[in-house]
Amino acid sequence: MKEITINVIDETGKKHKIVTPLEMGLNLMDVLRSHDLVEGACGGMALCATCHCYIESDHQIANQKDDELAMLDQLFSVDDEKSRLACQIPIIEAINNIIVKIAPPD
Ligand code: FES
Repeated sequence: MKEITINVIDETGKKHKIVTPLEMGLNLMDVLRSHDLVEGACGGMALCATCHCYIESDHQIANQKDDELAMLDQLFSVDDEKSRLACQIPIIEAINNIIVKIAPPD
């Protein structure tokens, strides 16, 4: 099974290197939650923002859909360039070696 690596900087600044399989239909929130790095309270519906993170690498990720943009708009800690909801980012080969920083609670 093919795998990709995800580099995570948690809220304390600690770095984590996570290797996760492709082809399981996971999203980035699923992976971060399984390592207790985000809460993912709404289960990936773009309704809670507890999976808010900053993309620190220059990976090309599909643009946000309206529900993700609406949720991000409500956050004080939003960064127009880097903010994403991890639950809206599928685990695909294109994000191999991505660098993700967990956003502080809003
Ligand atoms: Fe709730 Fe991503 S898990 S918005």
